[in-house]
Amino acid sequence: MKTFPNPTITAAEAGAALDTAVKIVRQNLPLFTSNCQNHSSVNDIYPPCENDQWTCGFWPGEVWLAWERTGEDCFKNTALTLVDSFDHRIRNHIEVDHHDMGFLYSPSCVAAWKLVGSEKGRDAAILAADQLISRFHEKGEFIQAWGTLGAKDNYRYIIDCLLNVPLLYWATEVTGNEKYANIAHRHVATCLKNSIRADGSTYHTFFMDPVTGGPSHGATCQGYKDDSCWARGQAWGVYGTAISYRYTKKPEYLDAFRRVLAYYLERLPEDLIPYWDMTFTSGTEEPRDSSSASIVACGLLEAAKYVGEEEAAAWRKLAAQMLKSLADHYAVQEGPDGIGIVRHGTYSKKSPYNTCTPEGVDECVSWGDYFYMEALTRFVKDWELYW
Ligand code: GLY
Repeated sequence: MKTFPNPTITAAEAGAALDTAVKIVRQNLPLFTSNCQNHSSVNDIYPPCENDQWTCGFWPGEVWLAWERTGEDCFKNTALTLVDSFDHRIRNHIEVDHHDMGFLYSPSCVAAWKLVGSEKGRDAAILAADQLISRFHEKGEFIQAWGTLGAKDNYRYIIDCLLNVPLLYWATEVTGNEKYANIAHRHVATCLKNSIRADGSTYHTFFMDPVTGGPSHGATCQGYKDDSCWARGQAWGVYGTAISYRYTKKPEYLDAFRRVLAYYLERLPEDLIPYWDMTFTSGTEEPRDSSSASIVACGLLEAAKYVGEEEAAAWRKLAAQMLKSLADHYAVQEGPDGIGIVRHGTYSKKSPYNTCTPEGVDECVSWGDYFYMEALTRFVKDWELYW
């Protein structure tokens, strides 16, 4: 595995960085209690939005992490107000015809159940798990990411879904019904078989053949081009395989983790924060995606729990190096109301070859802030995950 000479964050520095993030969350509570936070900032300031985006779960996750750090009632009260909003969303089927149920309901409602025993949170998250499994196709054995179910031009899954399936493992644990975890196992098996290339890089999206159910082809949406490697997709691969290993202990998930991580490390620039697509390396003017670094740091800290001490120490060191870079050079220290927590994320950058809508380029992104706080929390305590 590739190693780096970069400095590591200390426990005291991680605690201080987390406290800075918590200060920003506290400042932004009045803006985002009856509203949600937009997926990305504009000049580092988040506009409010309705609870109708795939990203709305990350802000409540930040609020729960702030509550875990401080125990202050203001955080718990806001997070529970947001649970009401997520309950309303799933019961009224508001913008839930897609696979992002885990991103939405794990950091908001599963967290509420685990942390304060919110039955409303638990029930809303189970409804979200039901919605997620309704998108599973027997033919091809995958959860369809986007669009009308069964539509030929959308008969595909995307690597990001590795962070949605933990909702299914959790739903089986909490209900005792195996149907959720079974679908998770089958989806993850399909994903790992097709989405990881021989060199350990990943396809963002993967089409299955609606007639035979066999693999058709990989394609990008938010990466630079079909055969490049979108940094955040790779990061979802790193963290997603670690979480699936946590729940299943299937050795092939840990093998996949190592392969995807190895490619990711090979393509990092000197400060360990990737450019938005891993086709770009040191010297380019392309923007970074700092959120990928936080996601990978979480994956490293999770996977380190399950391997021998030598490998675990190497992974913890990498996470500490990534966090040091983020905390020293990317984290916001202070700003006006609505300010984000980590700069230089990239949501979707248009290229001549991809199909995305350009949004949130070189901005704070809601999940970047959340996973930075999660990684710091993991660093300073033994953290019970929301996923
Ligand atoms: N799941 C979409 C993204 O990572 O931008």
